[in-house]
Order: sequence, then C-alpha cells, then structure tokens
Amino acid sequence: MTLSQLENISKEFGTPFYLMDGEQYLKNINSFKTAFKSKCDLVIGYSFKTNYVPALCKIAKDAGCYAEVVSEMEYALAKRIGFERIIFNGPIKNESVLIEALKDKAVINLDSLYEVDTVLRFREEHTDVPVSVGLRLNIGLTNDSGVSKIQCDLRVGRFGFPKELIGNVISRLRTAGIKIISLHGHTSSSDRAVANYKIIVRQMLEICETYSLDDLRYFDVGGGFFGVAAEGIDTSGKPTYEDYAECIVGECSSNDWFGRVAPSVVIEPGVSVTANVFSYVSKIFQVKEICGQKFLTTDGTVFDVKPTMHSNNLPHVFYTHKASAQTYLANLVGSTCMEKDVILKDIAVPASIAHGDYVRIDGVGAYTIVLSPTFINYLSPIIELKGGKAFLIRRRQNLEDVMSLYNL
Ligand SMILES: Cc1ncc(COP(=O)(O)O)c(C=O)c1O
Repeated sequence: MTLSQLENISKEFGTPFYLMDGEQYLKNINSFKTAFKSKCDLVIGYSFKTNYVPALCKIAKDAGCYAEVVSEMEYALAKRIGFERIIFNGPIKNESVLIEALKDKAVINLDSLYEVDTVLRFREEHTDVPVSVGLRLNIGLTNDSGVSKIQCDLRVGRFGFPKELIGNVISRLRTAGIKIISLHGHTSSSDRAVANYKIIVRQMLEICETYSLDDLRYFDVGGGFFGVAAEGIDTSGKPTYEDYAECIVGECSSNDWFGRVAPSVVIEPGVSVTANVFSYVSKIFQVKEICGQKFLTTDGTVFDVKPTMHSNNLPHVFYTHKASAQTYLANLVGSTCMEKDVILKDIAVPASIAHGDYVRIDGVGAYTIVLSPTFINYLSPIIELKGGKAFLIRRRQNLEDVMSLYNL
C-alpha cells in the first residue's frame, strides 16, 4: 500500500474508509479446513455476527461454508446472500422466523423452552412433514483448578439447556417424532485456550451417549478460537488452527459413540478468520499540543476501529507527504466530540506528520463494522483492492439513508 494509492482512493471515495482483503479471508478459511482435513468431516459455519459484509459472506458461501446466524435479521441476510445451508443459533427466535427455518430445513439449535413449544406446535400442525432440530447444551467451563473460563469471568453462562433439563427436552421432542440432528456447545471463553475444547467436547459426548443421540449429524463445538492476527500483533505462544483440530478431533475419535454415529464436526469461526481481513484508513486533520500532550486529530473514529473500546493499540502505519526519521509520542484521536474517542494512545508518530497525511490501522475485521453506529458521522465505505484497482464493497452512508427510517 502506497501513499499515492491512498490518495487515489481518498479522491474517489473520501475518508475515512475500510479496506477489505477478500483473498486473505479465503486463505484463512482454507487454512482452517486444512487443519481438520483427513481428521474428520468438517462443516464451517461462518459466524455472521462477527462481520456480515455481504461480499465477505459470499466468499464463505462459495468456499462451501454454512452461514451461522443468531437473529431474524441475520437469517434473512444469509438467505439474501444465497446461502442454502444455514445454522440458526441465538436466544431469540420469533415464532415466524423459527417456522420459516423449520420449513427451510435449516440446522436450528434451540436455546430455550419457548422455542421447543413452538416446534412442538408446528409438529402438531404438520404431521406429514419430517421435523428435525438441534439443541444448545449449556456448558460448564470450569477447569481442574476450579477456575471458570467463561467470558467475563462468569461462573454460569446463560445459553442453552442445562444438563438437568436437556433429557426432558429430548424426550418431549422424540415423543412428538422430532429428530435431534445437532448438538451445539459454543461457549465464549476469556482465554480461547485449547483445553477448553476438551471440556466442551467431553460434556457434549456425555449427552450424546446418555441419550443415544444416534440421529446426530452435526457435532457443533462453536467458535471462540484464536487464529489470524494483523501483522505486528504478537501471536507467539497462541494456539493455532491445528492445535484446536487435534484437541477436538482427538477427543471425538477416541469415543465409541462418535465412531459409530460419525457426525460432522462443526466449527463456527468468527474473529479467528476475519481479524486480519480489514484495515481502516483516515486522514490527519490537525496536530495539536495542549499542556505538553500531543494529539493527532483524524476524521476517523474509535467507534469504527474498536467499538468495544478495548485498550490495546492496534498495529498502524502512517503515510506522510514529508519523510522524517524523528518521532514523538502522541494520541491519535477521532472525529467525534467525545473525549473517549481515542483510537491509539501514546504511539510514536513521524515528526513530519501534518494535515493531509494518512494513518492505516490494521486488524479491524471482527466486531467493528457490525457494531459501529451512525454516531455523529455517516457510516464509512468499504473498498477492496484487487490487482491494484479499487472496488466499492459498500458506499458511504448519506442523508437519504439516515432519513429513510424516520417520519418527518
Ligand atoms: C454461537 C456463536 N458461534 C460463534 C461465535 C464466534 O465467536 P468468535 O468470533 O469468538 O470465534 C459466537 C460469538 O460469540 C457465537 O455466539
């Protein structure tokens, strides 16, 4: 990426903008496949919530992935993009979309009893149609030392059916002639450790054995993996796709039930395949010094780069019109009038930095575009560079878009 490329894109589409690298995304998906290849039959359900840019999801579809969706909106989006194979998760499934998904024969992982009631009603009204569903199992992710690894240090997660309840749910569904074809064990952890998957897989296998889930076609361990990261992020000592594959398939292949029933192993990667697929470019408008503190003000915003407001400085590159070997420390601050709009803190910037220069921030592919609101600014466009040419993946939002939801 060169300064003149950025200037050309900026002339045509303005700043700030996201850059998408579709080839990198495909590479990531294929690396995950390679890691599991020959070990088991693998299904990848791409986690829409992480980044549902349609052009990105289409790459996943063309690579043979299922869509993994968690809401009515994501379900509709997956169908619009052309996915025929959809895994439907999430705690809220309105009756209408749940029935639509039953008719579509999506892989539906039920999360709560109210969904079971809807499915049973549907069954009563459609006795001639084969009905099958999946169930999400509530996993206890406490290790041998008694430490819970569930995200946010929770001891108890809220998703799925607890072990004490799942037997009753299975029996009600079976009595109604409904097949259980999927078991889902996604559990977001604080450390994304490989050892967590041993716990998840063992708890899932126990349920499969206890209730003889012999119709199971999808053994779905969910997402929550480490994986790719932008250049500049230290990934030494972090698990690889292969480490997860070995652990998950290792646990499964030593189990008799799994050997006999041989379901596909499903993974639902999100951040682990998208993190290094997007960058974000903004323009420097002002260099300021106030009480000895230097600020670079850009037209970008932290709400585009890290809406979750984590405190890590992401990898970044400055593109200046004037070269300089000297640097000084500054905060890169955003365009919204919020003090907390700090994109990078105490970073070394070229001493020559000035109005009209650019900064590119890498590693912004996950939980960014899908979380950034129309807050103060229009939503930024997304550009893909292919063979040196810029393609518009999403245009900048405009006033008509903003007003279209309102009555005036
Ligand atoms: C059900 C489900 N699957 C997959 C994912 C993707 O997780 P990650 O982006 O951590 O891989 C999530 C994220 O929370 C999820 O809730």
